[in-house]
Amino acid sequence: MTSTETQVSRSGDPTDADWWRQAVVYQIYPRSFADSNGDGVGDLPGIISRVPYLTSLGIDAVWLSPFYPSALADGGYDVDDYRDVDPRLGTLSDFDDLVAALHGAGIKLIVDIVPNHTSNLHTWFQEALAAGPGSAARDRYIFRDGAGPDGSEPPSDWDSVFGGSAWAQTPDGQWYLHLFAAEQPDLNWDNSEVRDDFLTTLRFWSDRGVDGFRVDVAHALVKDLTEPLPSKTVLPRQSESLGAHPLWDREGVHEIYREWRKVLNSYDPPRSAVAEAFVPAARRARYASADGLGQAFNFDLLQADWDFGKFRQVIEENLALAEENGSSSTWVFSNHDVVRHATRYGLPRDPEGLWQDGKAWLLSNGTEPTVDVEQGLRRARAAVLLMLALPGSAYLYQGEELGLQEVGELPAASLQDPAYFRSKGAEKGRDGCRVPLPWTIGGLSFGFGSGGSHLLQPTWFGGYSVEAQESDPTSTLTLYRKALAVRRGLQTNAGLEWIDGVEWSLHFTRPGGWQSVTNFGAAPIELPEGAVVLSSAPLDGDKLPTDTTAWLI
Ligand code: GLC
Repeated sequence: MTSTETQVSRSGDPTDADWWRQAVVYQIYPRSFADSNGDGVGDLPGIISRVPYLTSLGIDAVWLSPFYPSALADGGYDVDDYRDVDPRLGTLSDFDDLVAALHGAGIKLIVDIVPNHTSNLHTWFQEALAAGPGSAARDRYIFRDGAGPDGSEPPSDWDSVFGGSAWAQTPDGQWYLHLFAAEQPDLNWDNSEVRDDFLTTLRFWSDRGVDGFRVDVAHALVKDLTEPLPSKTVLPRQSESLGAHPLWDREGVHEIYREWRKVLNSYDPPRSAVAEAFVPAARRARYASADGLGQAFNFDLLQADWDFGKFRQVIEENLALAEENGSSSTWVFSNHDVVRHATRYGLPRDPEGLWQDGKAWLLSNGTEPTVDVEQGLRRARAAVLLMLALPGSAYLYQGEELGLQEVGELPAASLQDPAYFRSKGAEKGRDGCRVPLPWTIGGLSFGFGSGGSHLLQPTWFGGYSVEAQESDPTSTLTLYRKALAVRRGLQTNAGLEWIDGVEWSLHFTRPGGWQSVTNFGAAPIELPEGAVVLSSAPLDGDKLPTDTTAWLI
């Protein structure tokens, strides 16, 4: 099948306020998508050159990870300037061209906004360092004197998410809080200048035509730093704290999002927003409320083992929650923070649970288990058909449509993730899912650009390239294109109905007679009545083989 044959007509109605509810959103990690100038780093003109590819996929929207000026201490999530483009990625005028190109193709654009922390190179932080203790400039961040007789100890024993202390000392002796890398100082959201400035940033990009925002670490902005700071030994577990943790998921954060919503709603159509908030399902509605961000990521399927009971429980729970608060559910298997799901599903089952500690990057250094690549891909294909048949919006991560595997063999010297450095190499980090995409079977960087690639692509990448899959009717790329085209004709806001019957399977119907059935079991099962329109693997006569999803009408 060629990309011309699979092109689907897009509605892309620019006036539709509810477009995000059932959207298929494709995440682009810009430095690793397409490189237009051969410097080894992907850029905005590179994305523009690939809009025909995005059209051929049949997505509704792009979510663009940070493209702002950044020293890349954390892959761009350390932002130097919220209202500009990193010169290595292009200019504001390139950004305008990207908006125009996507909108011209009927594709919306969501940008990432990073409000919990700036980078240490942001003008505000530089001013804070220069201005010294007690200054107004320091009040935009969270500075404290150290503990111990001479203040040489950090103010508390809190750990950063990436490992090591959450406090770093400045040359004048004071300490500042950084929940992530030391190059990512946390902002003080009690400071009105901080609040106002983010409203300006929301308006800046909304005025330039962006359709929505993905809000990074949305659950951390408001903190209770009442002294004495409690030791980590007495802190409640984040996932059980229900708003009682001093750092995460505090009730006060919603006041900020209510202010944001007013700004977002001042546009026609209102700009959408989706929270990245690692909170228990029951607390998610707070972020997804109509007077807040409107939608929140649900990482429950991403964290679930390949198990029909677990999948069903997650789906039921999230659909019920989304209905209750008038939002729409989100579904996601992969993003720039986690091991690609085609690899996860090929890992041996961890008796302690695949997602032990909630760690998003589970390939620990030096102890990689053997990956069953065939099983991983087979399950990934079955999983995506299941996900795309669900009510709600689906978030895809660049490269998953190629069935791309995690790159586990990146040489240590080339690793970039602060999680690797701050854990002193114990965590391999997230670089393995951020390796630039292979577009062609061969060539210096497999068609990524005319130069090299900022993360080394392995030799096996060519086999996964767009070129290798483009005209193969059995390829994963073809499966995604067909699935998105079928979904476009059938997806509605309506819920699903479960059909109970065969053990080890999940079978449900949607309006229009659309049925999805997945076999999680070891033996083939009977297919239900109906015409099969798509299946994630070849059928076994009239049977649905193991680890396979079929759509019937
Ligand atoms: C979010 C991002 C992740 C980043 C972190 C700190 O979780 O997805 O990539 O490292 O926030 O900004």
